[in-house]
Parts: sequence; structure tokens; C-alpha cells
Amino acid sequence: MNKCLHHIFLTVVLFSMALAFCSCKCHSISLKGKTQMNVQKETFGKTPDGRKVQLYTLTNASGLKAGIMTYGAIVLSLDVPDRNGKLADITLGFDTLDEYLKGHPYFGAIVGRYGNRIGKGKFTLNGIEYQLATNNGPNHLHGGIKGFDKVVWDAEPVTEKDAVGVKLTYLSKDGEEGYPGNLSCTVIYTLTNNDELKISYEAQTDKPTPVNLTHHSYFNLAGHGTGDILGHELMLNADRFTPVDEGLIPTGELRSVKGTPMDFTKPTAIGARVNQDDQQLKYGLGYDHNFVLKGPLNSGGGSPALAARVYEPTSGRVMEIYTTEPGIQFYSGNFLDGTNIGKGGGVYKHRYGFCLETQHFPDSPNKPEFPSVILNPGDKYTHVTVHKFYTR
Ligand code: GLA
Repeated sequence: MNKCLHHIFLTVVLFSMALAFCSCKCHSISLKGKTQMNVQKETFGKTPDGRKVQLYTLTNASGLKAGIMTYGAIVLSLDVPDRNGKLADITLGFDTLDEYLKGHPYFGAIVGRYGNRIGKGKFTLNGIEYQLATNNGPNHLHGGIKGFDKVVWDAEPVTEKDAVGVKLTYLSKDGEEGYPGNLSCTVIYTLTNNDELKISYEAQTDKPTPVNLTHHSYFNLAGHGTGDILGHELMLNADRFTPVDEGLIPTGELRSVKGTPMDFTKPTAIGARVNQDDQQLKYGLGYDHNFVLKGPLNSGGGSPALAARVYEPTSGRVMEIYTTEPGIQFYSGNFLDGTNIGKGGGVYKHRYGFCLETQHFPDSPNKPEFPSVILNPGDKYTHVTVHKFYTR
């Protein structure tokens, strides 16, 4: 009997040792995965009013890196491999906070409360006329004089099973830049082990207000400061765009891209038609237009649909953009003129970067025929955009 008990005891001990060995091995594998992806936090500088600005560096399991700071929720850098595995930073930006503080054309920033233009900075909501700050000729652009790109956000790191990130929050007060209602905003950047930079936005208000948040990175898939972006091949999943007047305010029309330089339904080099004799290109000084995405018109809730694909032939880098938004602004860096000296002394000349800003259509508060941008108390604004990277 004793012998039998002894055997049972031995079997149980051996079995649990085997189990422990196995789980330890599994644990060490997952630990290995975890040590590769990480979030690091450091102080990047201070604003003139003494607020500390933090820089979060996200690294995924394949070595992609994103640097994101709390001033403007700005993406400072995005290191992505080329077809030989060599990393390059593919976003325009500066090395120091001071250079960002001096002013710049929204490099890498989160733009709000309303990305893009509102004609004359005016709109009427529930019978009340609102006058917003005007900062683009007579119009309101990218949230006004001190938009979300120029405020310090609160932040905390995020770690998920297959992604690392940073969660940024900002409370935009009732009356800020002329907007009604206290708007509490959350933007979460995550870098996934599928080589995606995902941006998830949420906002809630206590008074009806227009909301249109977007992200304003300037990309050059060959590496920032290496040359112009005219050789990049662009595909836009859009067969219509919103034509504009000379102030870049949409006329209200949704016009077919067919037979025009706006047709990117098949991959086409950005430079192939940018200087054509075309009224819309003249108004934008190149591409600076909102495209109507073919995916389901979505004001939140659906899953992100393919909006754009950009391929850079010399490096082989490809960026795909998926979004829940109904529109995308394609801006070919027409106002860059070499006055911005960027990271590592890179000079950002005419068309050295392009932006693809997922958004609702410009001037929607004055265009009842466009999808609504009004957020009401009790409702939640949501927007998800994914930038997926690979090589060819
Ligand atoms: C947006 C606008 C452009 C320009 C840039 C910033 O993309 O549509 O006209 O203002 O931002 O320079």
C-alpha cells in the first residue's frame, strides 16, 4: 500500500515538474516577444509656460519605431525598413521642441477641433451663429490659431498583446477658438506587430459642436529630406472629389475624377500630372483636395476600409491607409519651400513630403449635403485610421 502511494506521489511530482518545465518555456518565449516590443518615455523639453513635454518611443517586434510627443500629439519620427531591411525615418519633423514651438506647417500633428477649412470661420448650429478664429485668409483652418497641434496633451503608455502605444488626452474648453462645448478628446497611437501605426480617436461633448480630427504627418517613403515625392505612386480608393474655390473651400459638388488629374483610381506617380493646366490644381498650387472614399460613408462604428496605397519605387516601401472616415485630403506639400530645416539638417523643399489626412469633408458645417460633423452630448465621436507598412 505504502509502495503504491509512493508511486502515485512520484508520478504526480514528475508530472508537475514536466508541466512546470513546459509552462516555463512558454513563458520565456512570450517574455522574449515582450522584450522586443516596448514603450520608452523621456522628457523632450518644456513649453514657455513651463509645461514638461514627454516623448514616447514605441518599438514593435520587427524593429519599427515611432516617436510621439505630448506637444501637439505629434509624430516626430517613424522608422520603417526598406526592401533590404534598412530603416529610415519617413516623416518630416524637427530634432528639438524649440523648433516645433517656433511654428511649422502641422508636421506630424493631431489637428482639431476641426481639421481642414471652415469658410469665413462661420457656421450656424441650432439657430446660433458661431464665429471661429480665422487663420487662413478669411477662413478657419485646422482648429484655428491655437489648435490641438499646439497644446500639451496628457499621456500614458499602452501595452497590448501584439502592440505598444501611447494614449493622449486633451480637454478643449467651451469657447476655445470659438467652438461651443467642452470637448474631451482621446487619441491612441499604437504600433502593432503587423507593422501598422493605428490612430484611434474618441471625443465627447457637453454642447453640440462640429468635430473633425485628423493626423497631419508629411511622408516621404524614401526617407525625410532625401528629395521630392513626385516619383511616389499613389492609389486613392475614390472616384469623386470635392472641387474647391480659390480659397480652397468646397463648392458643394461631388465631382467625378474620370478624365482629370484627380484620377488616382489606378496607381499613378504623384508628379505625372501635378503641373497640368487644370483649374483645380491651380487653386491648390498642386494637389490639396478632399477625395470622397468609396467605402461605406461612415461616421463611426464601422471597420476601417482601404483609402490609399502609396509605393516608393527606389526603397520598395509601401504604405496603405485604412480608415472609418468618409474622406481623405491629399496634399502634395505645395507650401514647403525649403525654409524648414528638419531633422539632421534635412531641408524640406517644395513637394518634399505629402500628407494623406483622413477626415470628414472640408466646410461640412456649412454644407448640409455633406455627411454631418456635429457631435451631440451623449454621443461619441469615433475615428480609426491604420497606416500599414510593407515592402515590394
Ligand atoms: C492642409 C491644407 C493645406 C495646408 C497644409 C499645411 O493639408 O489643406 O492647404 O494648409 O495643411 O500647410
